[in-house]
Amino acid sequence: APRPIVIQGPMPIEAEFFADKLENVKIEKSGTFVFYKGKLNDYPVIVTKTGKGMENAAAATALTIEKYNPIAIINQGTSGGHDPSLNVFDIVLGKRTTNIGSLKTSNMDENQGIDPTTWIPMDLMASEGSGSDASANKVRYYEGDKDLLAAANAVKDTYTKGKVVEGTIGSADFWNSEVDRIKWIHEIYGTSVEEMEGASVAQIAQAYDVPFLGIRILSNNKTNGGTYDPGTASANQEYVYEVVKEYISMV
Ligand code: 5AD
Repeated sequence: APRPIVIQGPMPIEAEFFADKLENVKIEKSGTFVFYKGKLNDYPVIVTKTGKGMENAAAATALTIEKYNPIAIINQGTSGGHDPSLNVFDIVLGKRTTNIGSLKTSNMDENQGIDPTTWIPMDLMASEGSGSDASANKVRYYEGDKDLLAAANAVKDTYTKGKVVEGTIGSADFWNSEVDRIKWIHEIYGTSVEEMEGASVAQIAQAYDVPFLGIRILSNNKTNGGTYDPGTASANQEYVYEVVKEYISMV
């Protein structure tokens, strides 16, 4: 049997719309993770509702790989803009994905205060040794899979609610609404958007050598006044559905 394509969504509104589009769906559960196993154009596709955040996303990914041996994983959903040229309903294809919550602070003694702008990125994958090692003082980027990116670019024109661009997805368990902090992250990491899952999925997918791509729609963008629109979640799944059809025609 062909290896399934896995589509992950954190929240119900980010997974159930796609799951409803599958044929012959069987639901399996493991812990709080829900797997909708079905068919799309006769090809096996599994939608996973992972729950929110880095821990849920990483655990769901490891389980998915061990249980279902997927040929590729797409992590998709909503995000917050870091680039003022991107608007709510625009979509970012993760040419790169990175963990923006992995940091080293500066050295300060009692009563010297705290200063997040002096923090530096920490690459946990740089070595197996202590984080005090200077080789860890850099950003770790996970590359989006070339074939998945090609499939996504090939169906760009089917999406009419905004633009589709390649960019950098930043992930951490935080929701930033301080514009100066967003600007700082944008400068240090080159992020297009932030969300709470992609980088942990990319890290685990890489550990097992499974092709990965993040696809994130902007549901909000504090840098240009774009207010939250939950309707973006289904718009993204409609586009990802086209991407999956294209990818199936390639494999
Ligand atoms: N910051 C962080 N996460 C966001 N999400 C949408 N917008 C943002 C934002 N501005 C996504 C996360 C998480 C849920 C809250 O929505 O990925 O799953």
